[in-house]
Amino acid sequence: MLANGITLSLWLLLLLHISGTDSMKFSLFKKKPEAQAKEGEVRLAGSKTSSEGRVEIYHDGTWGTVCDDGWDLAEAQVVCRQLRFLGAKSAVNGGTYGEGSGPIWLDEVNCNGTESDLSTCVFKDWAVTDCFDTGYMLDHSLALSEELGQVFDSGDGCDFQIVVQSTTGNKQLDGTLETVQTTICAHKMILSRFPLFNTSEENTISVHVSLSCQPYFTSFIRYIYTRKADVTFSSAQCLHQMASKFGVKQLMEDTGRLFSKFLPQDVTFHTPVSLYEYSVETGDFLLKENCLQYMAWNYQNLTQSPAWSHLSVKLLGALLSRSDLVVSDEYFLLVSLEEWISQRGNLISLESQADLLKLIRFPMIPAEKLYELQFNSTLYNAHQDVYGSNILKAFQFNVLLFSTLKNNPVFKKDEDDYQARIYTATPWAATIDRSASFSTPVHNSLIFKTNVIQWEANIFMSQSDCSNRGVRCESFPTARLTAQNSLRQYQSSIRFSNQLLLRCQGKYICQVQDFKNDLSHISTNGSQGLPYPCPDGQYDYQFVVIPNYI
Ligand SMILES: *[C@@H]1O[C@H](CO)[C@@H](O)[C@H](O)[C@H]1NC(C)=O
Ligand SMILES: *[C@@H]1O[C@H](CO)[C@@H](O)[C@H](O)[C@H]1NC(C)=O
Ligand SMILES: *[C@@H]1O[C@H](CO)[C@@H](O)[C@H](O)[C@H]1NC(C)=O
Ligand SMILES: *[C@@H]1O[C@H](CO)[C@@H](O)[C@H](O)[C@H]1NC(C)=O
Ligand SMILES: *[C@@H]1O[C@H](CO)[C@@H](O)[C@H](O)[C@H]1NC(C)=O
Repeated sequence: MLANGITLSLWLLLLLHISGTDSMKFSLFKKKPEAQAKEGEVRLAGSKTSSEGRVEIYHDGTWGTVCDDGWDLAEAQVVCRQLRFLGAKSAVNGGTYGEGSGPIWLDEVNCNGTESDLSTCVFKDWAVTDCFDTGYMLDHSLALSEELGQVFDSGDGCDFQIVVQSTTGNKQLDGTLETVQTTICAHKMILSRFPLFNTSEENTISVHVSLSCQPYFTSFIRYIYTRKADVTFSSAQCLHQMASKFGVKQLMEDTGRLFSKFLPQDVTFHTPVSLYEYSVETGDFLLKENCLQYMAWNYQNLTQSPAWSHLSVKLLGALLSRSDLVVSDEYFLLVSLEEWISQRGNLISLESQADLLKLIRFPMIPAEKLYELQFNSTLYNAHQDVYGSNILKAFQFNVLLFSTLKNNPVFKKDEDDYQARIYTATPWAATIDRSASFSTPVHNSLIFKTNVIQWEANIFMSQSDCSNRGVRCESFPTARLTAQNSLRQYQSSIRFSNQLLLRCQGKYICQVQDFKNDLSHISTNGSQGLPYPCPDGQYDYQFVVIPNYI
């Protein structure tokens, strides 16, 4: 018996085609093994018949066992030969002949079957083994969840009262607001993981929730027992509020993820905007990122939406700081920001205006538009310093080589200003059905205006599409974007972070993904695989070329 109680599973073999007589087998076992055994000798144990059993091997003066990892017929064959049987009929793993005792001499034995002696086969080394390390997962957590649910439902032994109160909005005769309340009895031990319930100090707490959320409070507490809850959009909002109030992070994240599935349904953009503000309030980073990403990808629509003029400076600033904004070009960003600021008039301080303007990446604005800014811009006069210095920077970007530019401390400081976002205007993007070619300059800087790259874009729908092009695809559809000219000469200074956009039903962008080795695999499970839902195959593909200095 092993001290740690782990059953050692040991192998063994059945020997058939027994050549010898009974007496021979008998003699095999009649030997006094401890006394007479030789180094490397083997024997069978744990079986009534002599031709089968658990293999043991003699080494260093002691009989020990063999781990069954990697044990099969070839190894059994060798043992049988060594014991002078004709051959092995089968090799059996898993402690069929009881657990062994003594040291585990051999582990991961690998024979080719022709060896005359087990100890000449390959194995780790004498007594080197991880035979104990096999772990077993006992997972009855689902059943536990059910049982804890029953504990909660029955209320047996509960020792913590939660009084849930909501005001109905009606006034009572005495002028006070009418409230309704329910009481839930729970177990301190279960809730104590969340300190905000105050279980260590209190036996009763009261909680105020809105009337519409009151029906879901029981689900919320039950979730803490079972980690399960059925969620709809309306209950998700309530559950999220409660989870953030009591610091139940996992539930916040799960419901937050669910919210993002609902974002595209609101063409007014009020949902993503208010969920963003709410996520900031509750400190839900995941929800915040989900909302920002949706608005960044669909920025162009956001600027046309009713929610646009109500954005907070903070939210607009957060969006303009991102490189994953999908817009026709940088000039569009500037013009829409100028309009946004002008509409607000004095509501936005000059300082906030300047801060927002500085987030525009002037070097990315096409040069001919840059030049006209001083005449066309509505804010130019009020913010001459911001425009002046940024336009200068942009011109430098367009006329200086990167090697010169990068020595300028300004370049280092504002590196983001020199990074392209996801621009969908020509020449940088192409929407294609199955395959097409288009060309772009090597880089946004004017210096590269005449260095043209020819791109080929494909959507592969089947293995034959892929193999026709000599490409190995893992799944379908797969998008491919390849440069037709050699990019070697630019390798050290320019890197392409090309992106594939999926636009759902022509309405909203539900996925932005990059290319690896020119390929981009597209999730086929619509609402499952995409950050924002879209029925399978209901999207079109837009390829965007994004060069950046490195
Ligand atoms: C089997 O293993 C033995 C001992 O390592 C070796 O001498 C022999 O060449 C091997 N035979 C084959 C077929 O690999
Ligand atoms: C828990 O205790 C703190 C401090 O006493 C109090 O502010 C808070 O409202 C209590 N929480 C609940 C749910 O009663
Ligand atoms: C600037 O204004 C001129 C004349 O009003 C117009 O022709 C030009 O298109 C405008 N430029 C931009 C970039 O809007
Ligand atoms: C976004 O704008 C396009 C074109 O203006 C429109 O067809 C589409 O319905 C809009 N989508 C949303 C979600 O607002
Ligand atoms: C797609 O999702 C469905 C359920 O939503 C699932 O049954 C199916 O296995 C998924 N297919 C793939 C390829 O992931």
